[in-house]
Amino acid sequence: MPPDPEGSNGEKTLTERILYRAFGLPTGPLGRIGGWILAGGKDEMIEWMIELLSVQPTDRVVEVGFGPGDGVRLAAETASDGFVAGVDYSELMVRKARERNAAAIEAGTVDLRYGRASELPFEADSFDKAFSINSMQLWPDAQAGLEELQRVLTPDGTAAFGATPHAKHSPEDLTRILSSAGFEAVQIHERDREICAIVENG
Ligand SMILES: C[S@@+](CC[C@H](N)C(=O)[O-])C[C@H]1O[C@@H](n2cnc3c(N)ncnc32)[C@H](O)[C@@H]1O
Repeated sequence: MPPDPEGSNGEKTLTERILYRAFGLPTGPLGRIGGWILAGGKDEMIEWMIELLSVQPTDRVVEVGFGPGDGVRLAAETASDGFVAGVDYSELMVRKARERNAAAIEAGTVDLRYGRASELPFEADSFDKAFSINSMQLWPDAQAGLEELQRVLTPDGTAAFGATPHAKHSPEDLTRILSSAGFEAVQIHERDREICAIVENG
């Protein structure tokens, strides 16, 4: 079981702690409910991000914080002759996403691992594209996670960061966080109340 980066010091309200167990780092019965709610709920947003990211059929793609695995599923449909990998720090979500992508895992075109953003279990320069949705705000050290994404992306790789209002990211703070981590050419796209930042590996 991963350590709870929120600690147990009572600084969070009860509601915040419940939400964290359900959606932030899904764990136990609340995590099962959270995973069930998250599953299938963002397909349109994910398709929009995959288009902005310009995922190609032969691309190698990685997602960090894949939750129940919809991003992985849709990326694998687009990168149909490529490869999709992912990392999530919830054992529960890794199990769920593996079940929901079982055929592609069996075929060897998808690989889903348990792990954290700050320590991605992949070689340098492994991926053409990377993305993450509503997850970066939960990483205890966002800078370390972004540096890891830069390491595993090819030098001319592209990444997308998606945020719904739940992530509480404004376009300005997404731009600031990504630029200060060294990503280049930050482009912000907005749709309804969703944000997608597209960046080039710097
Ligand atoms: C709000 S959920 C979003 C899941 C999915 N991307 C979606 O949009 O439905 C956040 C996900 O990020 C994962 N996560 C949280 N902290 C993480 C970390 N440090 N490294 C990797 N994944 C993390 C959680 O386990 C959870 O699956």
